[in-house]
Amino acid sequence: MTPIEFTRAKASGKKLSMATCYDYTFGRLLAQSPIDAILVGDSAAMVIHGHETTLTATVEMMRVHVAAVARAAANKLIVADMPFLSFRKGLTAAMEAAHVLMSAGAHALKLEGVVGHEDVVEHLVRSGIPVMGHVGLQPQSVKAYGGFKPQGREETSALEIAKNASRLEELGVFGIVIECVPAVLAGQITQALSVPTIGIGAGPGCDGQILVLQDLLGLNSSFHPRFARAFCEGEKTIFEALTSYDDAVKSGSFPTSKESYS
Ligand code: KIV
Repeated sequence: MTPIEFTRAKASGKKLSMATCYDYTFGRLLAQSPIDAILVGDSAAMVIHGHETTLTATVEMMRVHVAAVARAAANKLIVADMPFLSFRKGLTAAMEAAHVLMSAGAHALKLEGVVGHEDVVEHLVRSGIPVMGHVGLQPQSVKAYGGFKPQGREETSALEIAKNASRLEELGVFGIVIECVPAVLAGQITQALSVPTIGIGAGPGCDGQILVLQDLLGLNSSFHPRFARAFCEGEKTIFEALTSYDDAVKSGSFPTSKESYS
């Protein structure tokens, strides 16, 4: 799917599915799946590298993950997150970061927010780089929020989020992620825009949904936000496999002669 097809899906009423991905192995699986698009999210800093926030993601970290996913799943629309502050250090620095991520194999870039970097969004779009917006809970602003908290519950903040979404559409984004806002607000924003909205913790009224891959595969039983449905018991399945392997090694039933060279 191209960014143009992604945008057009809204007019045809087709719901869009997205999942995050950070590596080659899962990239191969996503490449064969019906999922419409992949986000190489800066959530890599948390999910893959074990940090508490996304603030430690760097352009170099993102480049490595984008390149691995692109080697596996170039048939999918690959959106890469521009990491913390990479688009807030002036236009030249932002364009250099964008260049690195696009050269690594991204097909599009996602930036959180819009106020204060409208020039970057506009310049990227005018340079032929498809841009995805991100409003609502912006994890790169976690310090300002004082934690990962749903946004847009008060009227002023709801209006601000809706205004930012419209501004992003005016600037030419091809889609917008809406994270952790009341479902009614996300529905209203979705109705008001002609580009698709992709929700995460934003209810069923969005044009599509995104989940972190490890959450949807049930690989993180210690993290249970209400929106992160696990579609399989990944942790349990993997733990059972590791236990069976350990048993087989210790009982001597692995490897067999068929699994050995003569
Ligand atoms: O980095 C990420 O995983 C994201 C999603 C939560 C949308 O931005």
